[in-house]
Amino acid sequence: MRRLAITLIPVLLAVALVAGFFIWHAADKLPALGRNVVTGTAQVGGPFTLIDQNGEKRTAADFRGRLMLIYFGYSYCPDVCPTTLSLMADALEKLGPRADAIVPIFITIDPERDTPAKLKPYLASFGPRFVGLTGDVASIKKVSTLYRVYAKKTPLAGGGYGMDHTSVLYLMDRDGKFVTYWDDTAIGPDKLAEELRQRL
Ligand code: NI
Repeated sequence: MRRLAITLIPVLLAVALVAGFFIWHAADKLPALGRNVVTGTAQVGGPFTLIDQNGEKRTAADFRGRLMLIYFGYSYCPDVCPTTLSLMADALEKLGPRADAIVPIFITIDPERDTPAKLKPYLASFGPRFVGLTGDVASIKKVSTLYRVYAKKTPLAGGGYGMDHTSVLYLMDRDGKFVTYWDDTAIGPDKLAEELRQRL
């Protein structure tokens, strides 16, 4: 019996560690979203008025009739944001002409640096489809709140700052209503294309 207990202790510790990691990771990624998605899908999303990469005013109503694939990030992001933008571009490419029914939207959570002039060449490097949205700090704060997006400045060792931010892909329907979301780091382009195809 004692031998069994001694053998089990490291196993139980390992299980607790792995479980703890997943709980911590999930909480880190979805600080407020998880709870809200469970209690009511209507609570994610809503109207916005922002400025696109060409300096034009854009509202959520401009995209009625098309699905919106929305990602919040910032152009100075060193790793996750560019990977996710590539994922979105690759998935849409796989849909062929049907992708025209989906508009990929990148909303900055770093409006102080992500001006239209900064977003334009940045998004062009991921293909011609993207709509990039920025605005004043208050407008970005408002849309982030509507989508349950957490974002916070973090000072960098070498000066300047990075942004800690929620990294989630949202799908909104032709009326701008929330359909679903995906963990962008856990879904590949093939799977995302398949998920989108099912909802076209
Ligand atoms: Ni990022």
